[in-house]
Amino acid sequence: MTYYFISDLHVDFYAPMTRTVAVLHKHFEPFFERNFLPADACCIAGDIANDYFTYVEFLKFIAEKYRTVYVCLGNHDIITEYMGRFGSDRDFTTSESKIAYFIKEADKILHIQLLENCIVGDVAGCMGMCDFKYKHTPAASEIENKILWATRWFDGRHWNYMRNNTDKLWQHYDRAFRELTAQRPKIMMSHFLPLEFEMVERYKHDPYSNFFYFHGAKYLENLDDGSIWQAGHTHTAIKREYTDRFGKKHLLLCNPVGYPDENPYAEYGLKREDFVVEVE
Ligand SMILES: [Fe+2]
Ligand SMILES: [Fe+2]
Repeated sequence: MTYYFISDLHVDFYAPMTRTVAVLHKHFEPFFERNFLPADACCIAGDIANDYFTYVEFLKFIAEKYRTVYVCLGNHDIITEYMGRFGSDRDFTTSESKIAYFIKEADKILHIQLLENCIVGDVAGCMGMCDFKYKHTPAASEIENKILWATRWFDGRHWNYMRNNTDKLWQHYDRAFRELTAQRPKIMMSHFLPLEFEMVERYKHDPYSNFFYFHGAKYLENLDDGSIWQAGHTHTAIKREYTDRFGKKHLLLCNPVGYPDENPYAEYGLKREDFVVEVE
């Protein structure tokens, strides 16, 4: 069975802000042609859209293209007050209420599996979170990272999720990662990245880099040899093999579309064909 792995669609940047379904779908078609490839199933690792209406319409559109489409949430998908900037016709006062709405809508769409802390067949997924532990300098601290997140960072400013309590958020997803990987899925999806994907050199000393990553070795080693971990969030395409401390090998995949002015494939010379993968 073949899977096409992709993430960070940010469809709002490629389709107009409208509530007219036909207009949205007309823009989705060339976007699909440019960025997707045929496969039996497709895995989308978050950041589909900021706007809830565009998000749900894209799920309906993509559901027609594959036998199954697995989706996990991204940090952009769960923003709340940001919606007002688009003259939103529906307000989500909390990220929890937006997530509940997406789960309810996704349930109605045939072929869509929205994985928020769950496993369906061979595929497990959750949005994930950063663990705030990456230090861009030896003097950096977890507590400073948390303050910076809450006051300056996009997620801290545009989410209203678990009251934006950084400890609760990480505890929630640490548990999700432990419980999901303990079930040994063939494919594990998250939006945030295990640090084992490795960081591009230019981000290693950036204080904001810790908001993308968590230390993932203990979750990866729960998975079987030959498993896949797909992530998104960083807009650099990555495909590499990671060997855990038991010698098991895992394929790490990140294939973001990104924003119109970005070229995610430039850094490592990858192409979208690299992200069609046969899974036994
Ligand atoms: Fe993104
Ligand atoms: Fe993201």
